[in-house]
Amino acid sequence: MNDRNRHPDRNRPSQGNPGPGPDGLSDGRLVEVHSQLARDKEEPREGFSLTPIVIVFIFCGFGFWGGLYLTRNSGNFASTAFDVNAPKAAASAGPIEFEPDAAKGEKLFVAQCAACHQPTGLGVPGAFPPLAGSPWVAGNEERLIKAVLAGLAGEIEVKGVKYNANMPNIGAGLKDAQVAHIATYVRQAWGNTAGPVMDSQVAVVRKAIGARGQYVPADLLKEHPLETK
Ligand code: HEC
Repeated sequence: MNDRNRHPDRNRPSQGNPGPGPDGLSDGRLVEVHSQLARDKEEPREGFSLTPIVIVFIFCGFGFWGGLYLTRNSGNFASTAFDVNAPKAAASAGPIEFEPDAAKGEKLFVAQCAACHQPTGLGVPGAFPPLAGSPWVAGNEERLIKAVLAGLAGEIEVKGVKYNANMPNIGAGLKDAQVAHIATYVRQAWGNTAGPVMDSQVAVVRKAIGARGQYVPADLLKEHPLETK
């Protein structure tokens, strides 16, 4: 018999005769039952079992997968989506839409184009063709964008007058938005009434034509004939 199985009663001073206890169990029987109970209990074992660790890993894995799933499939679900008090900007932080701005276009025109075409848009007779009332400016936006991006060289007829000079590729050094503002301005100034030009249109044309030399006006007309009114 070892210490573990010692009945607490045993610590009491011996009363001599180990007869039946108050519940009718003899001391010997008590010890027997006790030691059996003690044996049935699982003893702590040395080393460790793999199972709990595997389970921990599985749970971590689930947590990780859940996180990944939410990041990928939350559809930009913002915590402020249903918060009526949240500032508007937080909810609509999408790409900023381009606004063609004729006022910005006018400033850019004065700096980039007016030296030749004049602030009046009337040009200089015999040297620089007019933009006011020019069919090259109205109608198809691509024709105008191409002229501004790549420039023009060769014979051109504007409002019944022939010119043969050289316009540099001003737009190559400007941003898409700047070209769009200028184009919008010249299409709407001096009594011109064509629609605005978007920066995305400029971007598309810039990509399509790449870095190239000036257009010969007749070639540009093959791509975009003047609209007949
Ligand atoms: C250095 C002078 C010069 C500058 C600066 C210049 N142009 Fe021109 N532009 C010309 C000349 C010259 C022509 C005619 C080209 C030819 O003879 O082939 C022309 C032709 C044009 C045409 C087609 C003909 C017409 O009159 O409609 C447009 C449109 C045009 N320019 C717009 C612009 C815009 C917009 C700018 C500013 C971004 C600009 N140009 C800057 C000299 C210039």
